[in-house]
Amino acid sequence: MIFTSLSSSLAFPQLAQHVQNMREQDLKISSLFDQDADRFAHFSLSAAGIFLDFSKNQITQKTLELLCDMARQCQVETQRDAMFAGVKINTTENRAVLHTALRAPRNQPKIVDGVDINEDIHAVLDRMQAFVEKIHGGAWRGASGKVITDIVNIGIGGSDLGPKMVSQALRCFAHPGIASHFVSNVDGHDLDAVLQQVDPETTLFIVSSKTFTTAETMLNANSARTWFLRRFADADLPRHFVAVTTNISAAKQFGIAAENCFGFWDWVGGRYSLWSAIGLPIALTLGFAHFRALLDGAHAMDRHFQEAPLEKNLPVLMALIGIWNRNFLDHESVSIAAYHQDLGAFPSYLQQLDMESNGKSTNHQGQAVQVSTGPIIWGNVGTNAQHAYFQLLHQGSDITPVDFIATLKPMHVLPQHHRMLLANCFAQSQALMKGKSAHQVQQEMQAQGVDEKRIVELVAHRTFDGNRPSNTLLLDQLDPASLGAMIALYEHKVAVQGFCWGINSFDQWGVELGKVLATAIEADLRSSAPTPLQDSSTAGLIAMARAAKVS
Ligand code: F6P
Repeated sequence: MIFTSLSSSLAFPQLAQHVQNMREQDLKISSLFDQDADRFAHFSLSAAGIFLDFSKNQITQKTLELLCDMARQCQVETQRDAMFAGVKINTTENRAVLHTALRAPRNQPKIVDGVDINEDIHAVLDRMQAFVEKIHGGAWRGASGKVITDIVNIGIGGSDLGPKMVSQALRCFAHPGIASHFVSNVDGHDLDAVLQQVDPETTLFIVSSKTFTTAETMLNANSARTWFLRRFADADLPRHFVAVTTNISAAKQFGIAAENCFGFWDWVGGRYSLWSAIGLPIALTLGFAHFRALLDGAHAMDRHFQEAPLEKNLPVLMALIGIWNRNFLDHESVSIAAYHQDLGAFPSYLQQLDMESNGKSTNHQGQAVQVSTGPIIWGNVGTNAQHAYFQLLHQGSDITPVDFIATLKPMHVLPQHHRMLLANCFAQSQALMKGKSAHQVQQEMQAQGVDEKRIVELVAHRTFDGNRPSNTLLLDQLDPASLGAMIALYEHKVAVQGFCWGINSFDQWGVELGKVLATAIEADLRSSAPTPLQDSSTAGLIAMARAAKVS
């Protein structure tokens, strides 16, 4: 079925005219606040434990009406329902997109290709639970009889970013006695740093790879096995190596026993897989009950996404505001400012989720998309980011919308810190929105007694244009349920944007070329034969690496 996309929707020219009118009227976000004393109430919403203040965007009720018209014309609801129903909407890979099924409660049959996947999903969850309880209870021991104290997840992309981000974000809920480590980079420094911290007698390796062919993961897994076998024998491997994969036969070939393999399915995209057995490191780090609470939080957001009308639908509104910023206000990137130290890995996680999903310029029909698609996602934690790149956010030549994320309650007992943290978070979005006029700067400097000549020199430097948009997401506290809901919120935001742009958000052909070329260049690095097929830059770099004896 072919759907209308943003550029061919009836609302597109209306939105273009609407933004033109706003420009002509010089309608600033701050004046929208002046016009409506209740703007905060009118432009905020809460669902599944996540509160979203989207009032500090350059939008009016009319903007939202037009955006919702556009979403209806792009049949966002039909596309959403097709996703939940298991229609093969990932057309280039001929796959369903059913990560939402992974967090549905037990006994909610979902038949896909004649199979009740709800039963399959819960069978794996039960095995994961039993495994986690054995490790935590000490029933599962290492080859020398000692309990497991360290787990090392070896995976990359979706087989690393999600589990790592969640395990770190929820460290306050961690099961005592288990330290988790994540190795992803083929750069040997990554594995080496972890191996220096762990003891083979008490370490469990989880080889996490949907395909079990990813070069980086396979090399890291082989090197970890070699390291382990320096101390132990092949027969001891089953107590220290488990796998999470859809490719059980490849895992068996690697030497991991079938009973130590946790499976999932091709309808789970890598970047959407933390809810599957790829979440095993999360369950081991936090305990199974917390993993289940994470799934339940995501499920609550799924239900909201399915049931709420577009105008009151959190992921839909976030997606539409993102489209407004990207396609009508021409903002090229989105910065994530997480005012919670434990969310340090959240921006990197979102980079894969958003940019691998919507970094596309070909539509479902194989034609070039007529509008800009996925923005660049970047960010860090506040307040650190304020002392690094916020200068650019406030006074740079490009406008970057920001998602501020904070919790009302901290997980520590240092109240002064949380007050100052929240004050900074709220102040930054206010500063971006309001700015500071030349007149204000002048008055301020005059009041400070600065001489007029100096005021003239400095006034432009100290002026802030303002009118820079942001969202603020507030969670009551960062716990498994709220984090699950927030991740699902972003997943659905990305999906809705893909629906509107008419692209397939669930494939990732763009990462293939580099993988193929790396294989050829690696062969060149191993040999000393001439490299006539390489361009002169690549040939030159290969020659330098050969001279440095990289082989
Ligand atoms: O190269 C991109 C990618 O395919 C991601 O989509 C995926 O999350 C990652 O590689 C890891 O893949 P796998 O889990 O199969 O090792």
